[in-house]
Amino acid sequence: MDKVRDMAKNESFEKQTWKPGNVLSPLPVVLVSCGGVAGWKPNIITIAWTGSVCSDPPMLSISVRPERYSFGIIKNTGEFVVNVPFRRQARAVDWCGMVSGRDVDKWEGAALSQAPALKVQCPIIRECPIHIECQVRETLNLGSHVMFVSEVAAVQISSSLIDAKGRFRLEKAGLLAYGLGQYFELGAVIGRFGFSVQKRKHKSRR
Ligand SMILES: Cc1cc2nc3c(=O)[nH]c(=O)nc-3n(C[C@H](O)[C@H](O)[C@H](O)COP(=O)(O)O)c2cc1C
Repeated sequence: MDKVRDMAKNESFEKQTWKPGNVLSPLPVVLVSCGGVAGWKPNIITIAWTGSVCSDPPMLSISVRPERYSFGIIKNTGEFVVNVPFRRQARAVDWCGMVSGRDVDKWEGAALSQAPALKVQCPIIRECPIHIECQVRETLNLGSHVMFVSEVAAVQISSSLIDAKGRFRLEKAGLLAYGLGQYFELGAVIGRFGFSVQKRKHKSRR
């Protein structure tokens, strides 16, 4: 920690005041699939306003503007799948957030394919490495967006991200992040949960 204090001495802490806004970054950016049930056609919407909100039961939220085509689908069917994309899928992620399922078939346009989910009736996006199937538990009208607070019903992870010991190697995924209107790629692992309080292992000297 002394090193951190020394570094801080040389830094300028001057700040500018901005008007309140959504500057919290980076955020995950995901492809949410929905529909394919009760007469609703399957659709995809790009979502950045998403996050984990509860550990037990596992829950996450997505916030959707009511004018989105996907909004009516999710509100009426009460389910969706969060598909976490690879970095290389950035173009499809952006495009699915630029056009509406009212006008185009995003599956066809983004060369993405549907596969059955385990616990919900809407399809997963097969080309994505991580699928989180969700059932809506609460709907909160917040203002511009409606938040769907949802319970995670099932999770699927690509076998390519699981090592021989059964560990989920997230760093292999080449994931995408989003902030202030820009896409970022995630970099190297720099520590594990609790590393700041763990004793350092000293190399044995022979
Ligand atoms: C990077 C990115 C993030 C987005 N995040 C959200 C979001 O969190 N909530 C939302 O309602 N729309 C969001 N959008 C906009 C929708 O994805 C977009 O309006 C889309 O065309 C809606 O599709 P639909 O009409 O087929 O539902 C985002 C778009 C992009 C490109």
